[in-house]
Amino acid sequence: MWFDLTLEARDGSRHPARYNPHTSEAEGLALPVKPGTFASVPRVAKDQPLGKSRAPRVLKIQLGLSCNYACSYCSQAFQIADATVSKLADVEHFLTELDGWITEAPEKIELWGGEPFLYWAKIKRLIPALSERFPGAQFLVITNGSLLDTEKLKFIAQYDICVGISHDGPGQHLRGPDPLDHPEKSRWIKALLAERPGKTSFNAVLTRDHHDLQALKAWFAEKAGPDVPVGLEGVVNVYDAATAIGTGRFEPAKLNSLTWSIFEALVEDPNAFGLGERVYEFYKSITRRRPIEALGQKCGMDREDTIAVDLRGNVMTCQNTGAKGAHKIGHVADFDAIALDTATHFAHRKECMSCPVVQLCKGSCMFLEGDFFKQSCANEFAFNMGIMMAAVWHLTGMVVVGVKTQAGQMSMEAPDASTARVPSL
Ligand SMILES: C[S@@+](CC[C@H](N)C(=O)[O-])C[C@H]1O[C@@H](n2cnc3c(N)ncnc32)[C@H](O)[C@@H]1O
Ligand code: SF4
Ligand code: SF4
Repeated sequence: MWFDLTLEARDGSRHPARYNPHTSEAEGLALPVKPGTFASVPRVAKDQPLGKSRAPRVLKIQLGLSCNYACSYCSQAFQIADATVSKLADVEHFLTELDGWITEAPEKIELWGGEPFLYWAKIKRLIPALSERFPGAQFLVITNGSLLDTEKLKFIAQYDICVGISHDGPGQHLRGPDPLDHPEKSRWIKALLAERPGKTSFNAVLTRDHHDLQALKAWFAEKAGPDVPVGLEGVVNVYDAATAIGTGRFEPAKLNSLTWSIFEALVEDPNAFGLGERVYEFYKSITRRRPIEALGQKCGMDREDTIAVDLRGNVMTCQNTGAKGAHKIGHVADFDAIALDTATHFAHRKECMSCPVVQLCKGSCMFLEGDFFKQSCANEFAFNMGIMMAAVWHLTGMVVVGVKTQAGQMSMEAPDASTARVPSL
């Protein structure tokens, strides 16, 4: 499926280019072509469920969905009642049961909440045991950063744990109290960032009223220092009605300003907020002609080698869901019966199969449906279009001002006052 792009040079002249996200062919984008070999990935659907591998590359352990925060857009809020509650003793059973089903060491072990550090006693028992069994595995914890202290910092260093601190900078009030306003909490966060460069970062979610990346950068520079690593968790997805009418609902003008904010940030700094990786992946997809059939979901939870389990051995759609409801997809004790039948690969969604940014977005959340999916898709489209525009700009020095889709011509006009900020090549 080809999309006609209109590119605008600084002198105002317009030039055509073409891009096909199904075959990753491009015309008018000067990239070398060296086709790679790609296997097709299975495309999960409710009536075409997928199992899980006993040799997971990524093992996600959900400790529970309890949290000391109540972020306005929290993707887990609608699942809290469905989460199992476990005891410290369940950790021992979990570890014993693990030996019964896992056949190879995972590359990565992630510990998830809720707020994971609310489950500190369990973490202290789990990680040393897992580290002994799987010495090569990399540990990862995503936290709201409000519960750190000396003991946790020592532990994090001892077990070489990567830590992502979720923080929205100027939009933090949408999440809860700002730990950086608390002298002691702020000290722990800054110590962790200083002691573990490359293994700790802030991660922000972009929302309706807080998606200006210049403002985000300036905020962190002032509050935490100019070189502090800030990545993006991404743009907000919509999981409940309050988010759908609240901070997850971008009107068209806000979607446009989101696109331009991403674009401008990446023009100024090709690796702004760590997004350079995404630009590079986009180039590589074209160079290697990555076909759409080789693309799984962005979150990776449709992969057989990526599994989310709770401490009772339940297997869920992903770490953000609870095992007492529809998102329980099996149990490790009956491993071969695990069936991911709660998700829809983007290949089964007609909007994704006619989307110019599908190679970047990879289908948004695979279990969302209806209006929540629709709004999340709109947000993801605006976010990923900004990345694609920046990728094209760095190749051609020109701005994508139009994309012709099946639905018609889409204009990417700059919001007022934005173009002035786009520097020349
Ligand atoms: C659900 S939280 C759990 C871990 C921890 N409590 C935290 O906030 O870091 C995991 C990540 O998802 C992000 N998140 C939560 N709700 C989201 C949403 N609706 N859309 C996109 N990201 C979201 C959070 O900001 C956080 O980075
Ligand atoms: S995003 Fe994280 S910190 Fe916020 S309510 Fe959800 S689980 Fe808690
Ligand atoms: S932007 Fe929307 S249509 Fe495009 S791939 Fe993402 S979810 Fe699908």
